[in-house]
Amino acid sequence: MSWAIVPAAGKGTRFGGDVPKQYLVVDGLPILAHTLHALLSHPGVRGVVVALSADDAHWPGWHEMDGKPVLACVGGESRADSVLAALEALPAEVRVDDFVLVHDAARPNLHHDDLTALLERGRNDPVGAILAAPVRDTLKRAGDDGGIDGTEPRERLWRALTPQLFRRLQLTRALESARDAGVAVTDEAMAMERQGMRPLLVEGDDDNFKITTPGDLVRFQYLVSLRLQEGQRR
Ligand code: C5P
Repeated sequence: MSWAIVPAAGKGTRFGGDVPKQYLVVDGLPILAHTLHALLSHPGVRGVVVALSADDAHWPGWHEMDGKPVLACVGGESRADSVLAALEALPAEVRVDDFVLVHDAARPNLHHDDLTALLERGRNDPVGAILAAPVRDTLKRAGDDGGIDGTEPRERLWRALTPQLFRRLQLTRALESARDAGVAVTDEAMAMERQGMRPLLVEGDDDNFKITTPGDLVRFQYLVSLRLQEGQRR
C-alpha cells in the first residue's frame, strides 16, 4: 500500500467569496473530502498527508477517513513547497524508496480503475508514472494581437493529470533541486524530468479534471448527482 500526499495550501478564491475552491461544498461535503475519499477508499492507499495553508480556517480537523489515517501539515509558498513539506511529514513507516502518490486537492473525480492502473504500472517502472490524457483538440499558437501564428502538431502531446507516483527520496531530491535552481515546476513529473528521468505516462479518464472554473464545479455537481441516482436505482 502507498501513502498519498494532497497539496491543499492553494488560496484559489477565484470563485468569489472567502472560500478556497477545495472547501466549496458539493452534496453536503467539501470538495477536499470527495478527493480524500476517492484516494482512501482505494485498497492500495494506506493514508494521506494533506498540506494546508498556515491560515486555513476551513480545515475540519479530520484525523481519519474510510478507516485510514489523515495527517495534516503546513504547506509552502508554491505547490512544490507544499509537496516537499508533506513529504517531510510522512510517517517513519514510509521508507526512502517507497512509492508515494501526489494528488491535487481540487481533483475529486478520480476513479478507482485509473488509480489501480497507475499503482500497478508505476510500481513496475524504475522511475514512476503519472496519469495523463492525450490532447484531442487542435492546438493553435497565438500571436500578440490574438491572431493565429500557427498550428502545433498534437501527436504525442498529453495533458498531465494527477495522481503522480514517485519514490519518496527521489521526489524529495528532485523538488529540492528545482527549488534551489529557482525553477518553478508545475507538477512532480517536471521535477523528475529535470533530473534526466523519464516517468511513464498512464492513460487516465478525461473526467479526472481539476476544478478551476465555476463550470468545472457545475460539472462535478452533475457527476455526483448522476452517481447518486445510479446508487439509488441499484
Ligand atoms: O492552483 P492550482 O489549482 O494549480 O493548485 C494545484 C494544487 O496545489 C491545489 O491542490 C492547491 O491547493 C495546491 N497548492 C499548494 N500550495 C500552494 C499552491 C497550490 O498546496 N502554495
